[in-house]
Amino acid sequence: MWTLGPLLGLAIALTQFGAVSHEFGHAVEALYEAADRAATLRRLAPDVAVVVTSGGAGIDRATIAALPQLKLIACFGVGVDAIDLAAARERQIAVTNTPDVLTEEVADLALGLLLATARRIVAGDRYVRAGRWPGGAMPLASRVHGKRLGIVGMGRIGQAIATRGLAFGLQIAYHGPRPKPVPYRYEPDPVALARGVDFLIAACPGGAATRGLVSRAVLEALGPQGLFVNIARGSVVDETALVELLVAGRLGAAGLDVFADEPNVPAALFALDQVVLQPHQASATHETRAAMGQLVVDNVAAFFAGRPLLTPVH
Ligand code: 8YV
Repeated sequence: MWTLGPLLGLAIALTQFGAVSHEFGHAVEALYEAADRAATLRRLAPDVAVVVTSGGAGIDRATIAALPQLKLIACFGVGVDAIDLAAARERQIAVTNTPDVLTEEVADLALGLLLATARRIVAGDRYVRAGRWPGGAMPLASRVHGKRLGIVGMGRIGQAIATRGLAFGLQIAYHGPRPKPVPYRYEPDPVALARGVDFLIAACPGGAATRGLVSRAVLEALGPQGLFVNIARGSVVDETALVELLVAGRLGAAGLDVFADEPNVPAALFALDQVVLQPHQASATHETRAAMGQLVVDNVAAFFAGRPLLTPVH
């Protein structure tokens, strides 16, 4: 059980952060429940020391500027690309996130999307429900085991995906800004990586450094038999190219958990049988969301108690 101790300032939550949101009760103002969010924010602004936000909602420069006492931004999520880190740094506002507790969960969904897409599990489900089986067998799927998997981003999540890939007999190669001490082949050129694999999974952070990293050229190199999975951020892929190439059959298939403009998904994808879509669910289990929420609470409690933050973002 957590406790915030004596409050040295006000904490507000821009979004829910799992079941623990409710345990906060009076200690944290739930801005996401306010009827008039802007007016509530203006009223509370002079006293706000902590903001709790999520990977999706983040916090922009204008909101940070409107909170003169802000000292901590606690993010419910590992990705901090929606937080204006430069604005936070200028004011020496600390930022925390929720690494590690979601790593295995996100990797599970990455493999789930790979299997669901290659083996056409969701298409098969549609086939049975539509009563099409008695009319004949559905088209064949693609083998997974023994194929080549490319991973863009060999951080904690990329490594957990690779471990799972090994269990499926996949040959692993990866791309990132620099080689890591991992037993997989490093490929400095993402196009070359895509050309040499059957499956490509994006597992890198979002933000300016990776915007469009999975480019049109990368997707073309993956090719008509290639399969792309994204559990990272919509921003890391050229989404226009992704949709065009899938529609034209120049990219084989895709399993997508994240999109450029969530919760809006390009409508052209809805008609494609070779695409499996998820509403940004990679960390969305009871167990992991509870652990993420607890880590947010622990960071906020540490802040108010004057203790070191548990998971600061540097
Ligand atoms: C969450 C995420 O969906 O951790 C991240 O970066 O994208 C996800 O775990 C999100 O932060 C919670 O809304």
